[in-house]
Amino acid sequence: MDRIDKVLANLGFGTRKEIKAVVKNGEVKIDGTVIKDSSMKIDPDKSTIEVGGNVVEYKKNIYLLMNKPQGVVSATFDNYDETVIDILEPEYQAFKPFPVGRLDKDTEGLLLITNDGELNHRMISPKNHVDKVYYAEIDKYLDERDVNRFKKGIQLKDGYKCLPGKLHIMESNEDGAKVEVTIQEGKFHQVKRMFNALGKNVVYLKRIKFGPMELDKDLNLGEYRELSKNEIESIKRI
Ligand code: URA
Repeated sequence: MDRIDKVLANLGFGTRKEIKAVVKNGEVKIDGTVIKDSSMKIDPDKSTIEVGGNVVEYKKNIYLLMNKPQGVVSATFDNYDETVIDILEPEYQAFKPFPVGRLDKDTEGLLLITNDGELNHRMISPKNHVDKVYYAEIDKYLDERDVNRFKKGIQLKDGYKCLPGKLHIMESNEDGAKVEVTIQEGKFHQVKRMFNALGKNVVYLKRIKFGPMELDKDLNLGEYRELSKNEIESIKRI
């Protein structure tokens, strides 16, 4: 059971004070009856809530898939930069969501955003070995020796030995290479540091898969959409 003002505030209907006024005004109905007390406790899963004559669709959690653009940071707040939460519509910000793991400011691609702490944990816990697939452009030539070094587990310059990863070379010549990299860890700047350890630099990085989720082709940079029920279930099965 939750207070009606808290439920409506979480759904983006305003501050508790504003909601109190709306309730006093007789604009809120629970199961067809006008209420006057904004501290009334209800079960939002069982009761029908109406505000101003419209039935409120209640949900506790939101699950978004964003095609993160460059230049925004994967955080809920930042003193200098715009965050991935800043670029959401207010109706989604009201759920107080946060990004699931991080992508660097200059990395693009698939980012999950939710307010479901359990799902977040499931996706980022190293115990679950969730695959993350990146498309990367590298400034130098790559060959089978590099593929093997990924397979064995690259040692970063700070001495950390990465878990084995997969390097799939799609194109490689004297101008550089285009590759797909699959890793199961999410250390700070991990992909960039893996290539640095091989004496090469990542010049473009985009995440294309995260566990069962794939980046939609029709989602432009900065756009996002809600996950379907099936997609949420597929993550919960991890
Ligand atoms: N590895 C990186 O170096 N950067 C990212 O944003 C993600 C993985």
